[in-house]
Amino acid sequence: GQALSHRLEMPNPAIIAHRGASYYAPESTLPAYQLARALGADYLELDLQRTKDGHLIALHDNNLKRTTNIESVFPERANDPVSTFLLSELKQLDAGSWFNDAYPDRARPQFVGLKIMTLDEVRQVAEQGNNHPGLYIETKSPDLFPGIEADLKTYLAAHRWLGDQAPTQPDNSADVNVRFTDSRVMLQTFERSSLKALQSAMPDVPKILLLWGGSDYIKMAQHPPKGEHESTADYYSRLKVNAPSDYAQWLEFARDNGAIGVGPSTIQTPHQSDFARQFSYMDLAMPWMVNMSHQHQLLVHAYTVDHIDDAYNYRNRGVDGFFTNRPAALLQAFDRA
Ligand code: G3P
Ligand code: CA
Repeated sequence: GQALSHRLEMPNPAIIAHRGASYYAPESTLPAYQLARALGADYLELDLQRTKDGHLIALHDNNLKRTTNIESVFPERANDPVSTFLLSELKQLDAGSWFNDAYPDRARPQFVGLKIMTLDEVRQVAEQGNNHPGLYIETKSPDLFPGIEADLKTYLAAHRWLGDQAPTQPDNSADVNVRFTDSRVMLQTFERSSLKALQSAMPDVPKILLLWGGSDYIKMAQHPPKGEHESTADYYSRLKVNAPSDYAQWLEFARDNGAIGVGPSTIQTPHQSDFARQFSYMDLAMPWMVNMSHQHQLLVHAYTVDHIDDAYNYRNRGVDGFFTNRPAALLQAFDRA
């Protein structure tokens, strides 16, 4: 793991700000990304989607209900997918107030009225200031956005974030910054078809294949039937990757399709969120899994780790990077603050 990171000139452990510093500010908004940069996170993570008029944007959910005021602005379209909106429509939405309601202890008046961001706006955050984080871009629900991998390549190339055109250091800085190398863009996806499309479009850009408990490899590994009256939580707790050969199959797909690493889910005890408990956040970075990944020459970037004790636990297993909503906590944990 360490050696592969070194070849990529990537910090190890890499600290990846998940939707920005999204514990402290509304996810995927300007203050979340600005804070992540100011803290010194290695990467700004974003989920890539595309508007009806072709703009690439940073948004996690497939619809706008959870993180915007869509129900008061376009009530009849509250359940519609992001892909059916023009950018000018999305820009009318308030993407910050929900955070103040959900987290009163972290609420701030300036979060009211924050906008959904384009990829272009996130890129500008990465290029401003003294720290220069990379961009760690996930093709989210890529089946809904045919050709988004090629669109991304066109965008990145046009803005000198790819290959030979990429500056080796920020234009405005005398410091050689190791993040401004070929690995300042990372690509990630859960979808095997999108990994192939990313590899085809951008063979020289490092990629991570993400894994979750509902991944088809895991399902195929055991395909246990869900009990008629069994809760989702109980069902997923029964899903286990028992056979190393099942995990190896996934690693081999990743490696054979150009990935330089894998992105497994983790279980954070005792801090695991209700969401994680309810759905399928299995521990897919168990010690033998991390070892096997390294034997396959693959890095392990684990999601989503917000607490220092969990970070140390997974680091002791050899995890090479962390997606985190709390980059301040993890940077401090690894003496990077
Ligand atoms: O991209 C790593 C992690 O973000 C995957 O989960 O649902 O937060 O995109 P999600
Ligand atoms: Ca993501």
